[in-house]
Amino acid sequence: MKTKIAGIGKYLPKRVVTNQELTTYMDTTNEWIIERTGIEERRYAEKHKETPTTMAAAAARIAIERAGITPEDIDFIIFATLSPDYYFPGCGVLLQRELGLTKTEIGALDIRNQCTGFVYGMSVADQFIKTGMYKNILLVGSEMHSMGLDFSDEGRAVTVIFGDGAGAVVLQPTDKENQGILNTVLHSDGTHAEELAMINPGSHGGYHLGPEKFGYPDPSIPGGVFVTQKMVDDNMLTPNMTGQLVFKNAVVKFPEVIKEGLAKAGLEKEDIDLLVPHQANLRISQFVQKVMGLPDEKVVNNIQKYGNTTAASIPIALCEAYEDGRIKEGDLVCLAAFGSGFTWGSVLVRW
Ligand code: UT7
Repeated sequence: MKTKIAGIGKYLPKRVVTNQELTTYMDTTNEWIIERTGIEERRYAEKHKETPTTMAAAAARIAIERAGITPEDIDFIIFATLSPDYYFPGCGVLLQRELGLTKTEIGALDIRNQCTGFVYGMSVADQFIKTGMYKNILLVGSEMHSMGLDFSDEGRAVTVIFGDGAGAVVLQPTDKENQGILNTVLHSDGTHAEELAMINPGSHGGYHLGPEKFGYPDPSIPGGVFVTQKMVDDNMLTPNMTGQLVFKNAVVKFPEVIKEGLAKAGLEKEDIDLLVPHQANLRISQFVQKVMGLPDEKVVNNIQKYGNTTAASIPIALCEAYEDGRIKEGDLVCLAAFGSGFTWGSVLVRW
């Protein structure tokens, strides 16, 4: 028994935010953003009306319909996001509620692997399907970065990259010989955990980086303090990224993990019909394409329109390729991601 993608959907919020618009908030230019990242515009969700959960639900409804099932058929939810509605509980149960799923005989799992979240989710779902535990798994990646970005000049290197959106798949068992997930490969290395991170608010209490930086808690409080005044005053509640370090690691790890998956399956890079890389930066994807020797028609790039949507970028790009008729039955599709953690991984699937 293997795992197939039975249905796929995506949701992009309506509001288009151009590079030009960003220049009105911070010291940046359209030329800089295009030259360094390839991004021309991104989408922002509607504040107070949309959340990662509502966007995920919109994408999920399409995936469920395309799978030919009803929401009540879902027996397990996996939700990958780094920008959840709440610190806890996770978005899995919120999505269950949002979709109106009343039965409680299902599980809801939250994945915190950032850009690699969807790939990790595919791997987890694949194991559950192969063991026969679940038959209709809903896996979503959804992000609302626009709520947590720093729109001052200080945040420009991070803020210009990210966008909002959601993608979803329904995964089911298949016994067809030429169909389904061939393998998934997962990696992690916590050495550079803080180089692409949103550290605050959190329970670290200064442990990893020294408490001075974050502000001492009031000694009259018996526990720690999740958010200190210093964090607020010193603008420490937004994501940070050492861009060049991430870039340098990404261009090595992407090809490595793709080749690792191919080798495990006894396949060559020429066997890939479509590569769907996490949309981190167009320059990274172009570099990976070159190293892998793939022609343009075999690589999906849509970061130009949506920016980097982290856990949502692979299912959005995969869905767009599917809707554009770029995937046919039996095609070998490769998904690959690298990001915060660092974590990276790949999935090889026969459509
Ligand atoms: O999906 C998660 C994984 N994330 C990634 O894969 C991101 C990987 N990294 C990158 O994509 C790139 O490193 C960035 C796009 C983030 C930055 O590009 P870069 O070519 O590495 O630029 P840099 O950080 O080295 O900065 C170069 C210059 C600096 O100015 P000086 O010091 O040379 O005067 C920055 O201050 O560009 C400046 N800069 C900007 N200028 C205009 C940084 N951000 C901006 C901006 N607009 N938005």
